Amino acid sequence: MALVKDILVSMDYGPAPEVNEPVVGWLDQHKDGFNHFIDGKFVAPSTGERFPVFNPAYETELAQVAQGSAADVDKAVKAARKAFKSWSALSGHERAVYLYAIARHIQKRERFLSVLETMDNGKPIRETRDIDIPLVARHFYHHAGWAELIESEFPGEGPVGVCGQIIPWNFPLLMLAWKIAPALAAGNTVVLKPAEYTPLTALAFAEICREVGLPAGVVNIVTGDGVTGNAIVEHPDVDKIAFTGSTEVGRIIREKTAGSGKKLSLELGGKSPFIVFDDADLDGAVEGVVDAIWFNQGQVCCAGSRLLVQEGVAEAVYAKLRTRMASLRVGDPLDKSIDMGAIVDPVQLKRIKELVAKGEAEGATLFQANKGLPSKGCFFPPSLFTNVAPASTIAEVEIFGPVLAAMTFRTPDEAVAIANNSRFGLAASVWSENINLTLDVAAKLKAGVIWINSTNMFDAAAGFGGYRESGYGREGGREGMAEYLKPVIDKPLKADEKIAAKLSALPVADEEISGLPSIDRTAKLYVGGKQARPDSGYSYTVLGPKGQPISQAGLGNRKDIRNAVEAAGKAGSWGGATAHNRAQVLYYVAENLSSRAKEFEERIVAMTGVSAKAAAEEVAVSIRRTFWYAAQADKFDGAVHATKSRNVTLAMNEAFGNMGILCPDEAPLLGFVSLVMPAISMGNRVIVVPSSSHPLAATDFYQILDTSDVPAGVVNIVTGERDVLAKTLAEHDDVAALWYFGSKAGSAMVEKASAGNLKPVWANQGVPRRWNEASGQGREFLRRATQVKNIWVPYGE
Ligand code: NAI
Repeated sequence: MALVKDILVSMDYGPAPEVNEPVVGWLDQHKDGFNHFIDGKFVAPSTGERFPVFNPAYETELAQVAQGSAADVDKAVKAARKAFKSWSALSGHERAVYLYAIARHIQKRERFLSVLETMDNGKPIRETRDIDIPLVARHFYHHAGWAELIESEFPGEGPVGVCGQIIPWNFPLLMLAWKIAPALAAGNTVVLKPAEYTPLTALAFAEICREVGLPAGVVNIVTGDGVTGNAIVEHPDVDKIAFTGSTEVGRIIREKTAGSGKKLSLELGGKSPFIVFDDADLDGAVEGVVDAIWFNQGQVCCAGSRLLVQEGVAEAVYAKLRTRMASLRVGDPLDKSIDMGAIVDPVQLKRIKELVAKGEAEGATLFQANKGLPSKGCFFPPSLFTNVAPASTIAEVEIFGPVLAAMTFRTPDEAVAIANNSRFGLAASVWSENINLTLDVAAKLKAGVIWINSTNMFDAAAGFGGYRESGYGREGGREGMAEYLKPVIDKPLKADEKIAAKLSALPVADEEISGLPSIDRTAKLYVGGKQARPDSGYSYTVLGPKGQPISQAGLGNRKDIRNAVEAAGKAGSWGGATAHNRAQVLYYVAENLSSRAKEFEERIVAMTGVSAKAAAEEVAVSIRRTFWYAAQADKFDGAVHATKSRNVTLAMNEAFGNMGILCPDEAPLLGFVSLVMPAISMGNRVIVVPSSSHPLAATDFYQILDTSDVPAGVVNIVTGERDVLAKTLAEHDDVAALWYFGSKAGSAMVEKASAGNLKPVWANQGVPRRWNEASGQGREFLRRATQVKNIWVPYGE
């Protein structure tokens, strides 16, 4: 045994293994293989097929787990559907009691669950014990609270139904909690599939569900791989898919669910910047880096995997990092004094090794602390790449391992430019002692979570989720609850298969127009604050209610849409205008619309043949609605979430930027106003395609926009065939969000086409709306016009 005086010199750690007998005993009880958890019972897989689950640190088999087939998934969905009726009918308080009981039981089993998670995943016990499992309990407590408050905090909203939830392996039980807790609080039932590498804590959770007497079928757990996940995605009776995992699979799920009407939230990959300014507390920042990229072996979607250091301090930071890396201990995850454990699986280890080899081949300089790794098991040392070119593979691709790619910058603007030069936008960390600078940079970063002088802070009360190809939807906090709720509409309308996807008449060349009053000859497009002829030189005939030609409208094409997107992009200052300014402009629009009400009423009658009274009402509601969104411009604000102590977590509602809007045919003026006004009141610029069959209320609107101080490029209007233009908008990488109100087939088309840059799409699936009623206006529109950015600002010396 080493003597204390020697240890004081060597500073070596002795072994500090966590006891794992209870877990080994539990695994022994399941020697014959684990089953699915369906309808409150553990059920053998229908095919009898099982697959092995390994401990990646020891490379030993832990268990045999059921491989879920489509039949198993179907059984689970049926159980969830059956349970939904009574579960959703419980009061919020009754559901809160169950969630509270789950939280309590998790707390009682904290040590067991931590050890099991460590053995299954390979992450250090220090992390599962101090971070993962306490956060799991915290999530259930927090959401017991939302269940309690559901009726008063979310009036007019109800559960979505049966939720299919697919989770990854990096935080197995925590991701389960992020998915199941809000779903149950809102009154949904779930079918959850854990990742194939790490299904064991989910099965232990199933036992807890039984212990607390959760009604059968409310939570169903089906284990398996991507095939099982796909069966959940494709199941016709699932109302929502919540997915966390790779961007590639997220994209597949977007395409597969297109047109199904399933609600979708995606939490995908990242390549998050960790920005260090020269006035930062460099030692603090270095500790931050350790947490950002070597926590959980870097297998973290929001890992700070791109280190951006201001030039003057770069070498000093690298030197400090190399020293710190040398003291990181990699080894047995069950050892309480280990910093880094094992990579989840040989497959992931291979992926990391290949990307590191690529980084070296591309000319970056690799540093790895020269400490021995265990001779057996999936281990990889903490790694630092310097001399990284911003466009190289390791600077762009998510490595999902303990590998940091470092780059330098000179000015704050350059830091922001490099940070935003990514297709992802999940998180960012900003380090400087100058709070003005950090907040300015935080506002400019395109990411869903920003940590100031800190990193990897999580709490159930704050939303977590990304911008861009990091996905959409939030988990945690009030914003996370929205993903599991939907408006309750008394008498929902049915999908209308007759909604025109095509123009009513064939396009004609401009020159061929004849027999129309000259004033109405051809309504042009409206791009960048100016009327513009369509690129094609063609127009189409707009028909009146009896099929008679009443005018011509420009036939916009792909090029016109691209021009409009470019014009919208140039109007970026709109988002930077004060909310008060935007409100003033919207009030002015309402005022001008009001002074020309008669004209619009006549136009509506001429286009649609509705009565003068109905047209007058449509105009009146349009004016009121514009007022309402003007009023909301400075009131639909964010929150300061109550997360950790000595911390303000600012939840800010940010505009998307460029939004595409496809207007419905019903209520040609009101439909247009109901969609454009919420979008621009929140600071977005819009590219709008008005109703194809009744476009003239929108083309008349040009003059209202011209006379109401709406800056050029904020509203761009392209008339033409809705679905043709919608496709270009859905595919366009510079369109950040899309609203589509048209046919069922068109909804499917835009959802599928959006998979490229994974823009959030709100499509009506061919179901018309009663625009003049409550369902035509509200916070839902504002929520869909914004994305929440959570900025964590710790305080105190
Ligand atoms: P993955 O995206 O394939 O797996 C995540 C989950 O999706 C698992 O439960 C898996 O069984 C399921 N799945 C796979 N294919 C599916 C399909 N077609 N339909 C439905 N479900 C499906 O991730 P994987 O292969 O384990 O890791 C690959 C890379 O993905 C990692 O190297 C990392 O870059 C990234 N990743 C990101 C995560 C995040 O939290 N953002 C988590 C896990 C992986």
